[in-house]
Amino acid sequence: MKPTLIKDLLVSEPDGREVTVCGWVRTKRDSKNLVFIQVNDGSCFAAIQLTYDRENANNGNAVNNNNTNAAVAGTPAMEDMLAKVTTGASVRATGKLIPSPASGQAVEVTLETLEVLGICPQDYPLQKKGCSVEFLREKAHLRARTNMFGAVGRMRSEMSFAVHSFFQERGFYYFNAPLITCSDCEGAGEMFQVTTLDLNRIAEEGIKAGAKGMDPAKAANLVQYDKDFFGKKASLTVSGQLEAETYATALSRVYTFGPTFRAENSNTPRHLAEFWMVEPEMAFFELEDDMDIAEDFVKYLLNWALTKCAEDMKFFDQRVQPGIIEMLTHVRDSDFVRISYTDAVKKLEENNDKFEYKAFWGCDLQTEHERYLTEQIFKKPVMVYDYPKEIKAFYMKANPDGKTVRAVDVLVPGIGELIGGSEREADLEKLTNRIKELGMDPKDYWWYLELRKFGSVPHSGFGLGFERLLRFVTGMQNIRDVIPYPRAPKLADF
Ligand code: 4AD
Ligand code: MG
Repeated sequence: MKPTLIKDLLVSEPDGREVTVCGWVRTKRDSKNLVFIQVNDGSCFAAIQLTYDRENANNGNAVNNNNTNAAVAGTPAMEDMLAKVTTGASVRATGKLIPSPASGQAVEVTLETLEVLGICPQDYPLQKKGCSVEFLREKAHLRARTNMFGAVGRMRSEMSFAVHSFFQERGFYYFNAPLITCSDCEGAGEMFQVTTLDLNRIAEEGIKAGAKGMDPAKAANLVQYDKDFFGKKASLTVSGQLEAETYATALSRVYTFGPTFRAENSNTPRHLAEFWMVEPEMAFFELEDDMDIAEDFVKYLLNWALTKCAEDMKFFDQRVQPGIIEMLTHVRDSDFVRISYTDAVKKLEENNDKFEYKAFWGCDLQTEHERYLTEQIFKKPVMVYDYPKEIKAFYMKANPDGKTVRAVDVLVPGIGELIGGSEREADLEKLTNRIKELGMDPKDYWWYLELRKFGSVPHSGFGLGFERLLRFVTGMQNIRDVIPYPRAPKLADF
């Protein structure tokens, strides 16, 4: 018999029917005639209880019509099998689903047959309760079996579904941006190179050439990108935005949701070298429309977490960040503040004594500034718009003041920047000039510029860092704990 997921069993009518339970043992309690085994299969937070009553077991009803290795209640084989049941062991059990007399659970299963599928020896790293998150990071292949990482794993899946639902309900098409690219979207030079060139051989040739006194300019040509796989220098993408723009200016509204890569040397609880980003891109949207949809999106995601993931959220509220349900409810129900960069900096300057990095007009906002705005000054999410052009990417629409661009960042309590977006420069000449001003080569962006040449339209979009969202909704302190296998400087162990 195929197992029923524990999440389904727990809400089933306890009518005494025969069920199969499969999962991993959380705890076993054996006292004289009664044995209680808590089994969890990760389908939900809660475990189901298997109950074995030695006195009443041998009533001759139970049969092993299920599988040959299972022990039947009331037989000596059952005692041997029970001896193998330790925390972490995997089991398949059958029994009757009945109302539970114990508090805190509606149903339980009387144990009729039991098979230990995989024993779990004493050196199981999750044997002890309350392992630290740092310890569990070293056990990334097992950590999803803990309450905490099981809950995070389910939230990740739930929030992904919420992302798709939000956009699909609003007429957006899902667009897959390439992961290998030849353009640096953010212009920050933080890209991981993709190459099939033999670096060792190039280094050896360089050493030989140096020994022969080759001039350095020629030595630099030893790296021949025309001989590389793509015939030119290629990298992993930092953002799918530029390509998403090509489809937004054809299908009107699209969104990407995929991995992005940044080789920034940031060892912080908010940065990963490989992270997932959601990037909607909308034709005929101006900055105000972009801000409206960003606000709706965040509220929709929080509402999803609060209403559809109540059991896991209860755990985060009790064990990870006390009060998080109230905080997220407040955010979901409040209007986000909209303030220009210039006004935000004025407010920060009044509080400069509180910051390690002093705020001034033109500065890139630090996390401490972002968090002060949203946590101390406004006590709700803040959308800061119209940033100085020098601190933002080349593609943002210039404001008439010549100093600022139509950018927006959404800042949320506990995290700082959750979303970065903008209206895009739709004017061919202005965009070409900006690319040149920044020392980039318009030839590298020829296709991007053609969007402005052929039927250009106002358009806008933003990027939401999916792991930052997960930190926000779960209260997990470190971004490395909301992605299954984190990638960060000197960290790619699994
Ligand atoms: O602000 P960013 O760099 O914006 C872009 O990449 C635009 N192309 C987006 C767009 O308009 N389509 O990144 C967007 C978001 C940030 O707000 C942050 O939440 C997240 O991506 N992010 C990171 N998350 C984890 N680790 C990193 N290293 C991140 N860098 C950015
Ligand atoms: Mg940003």
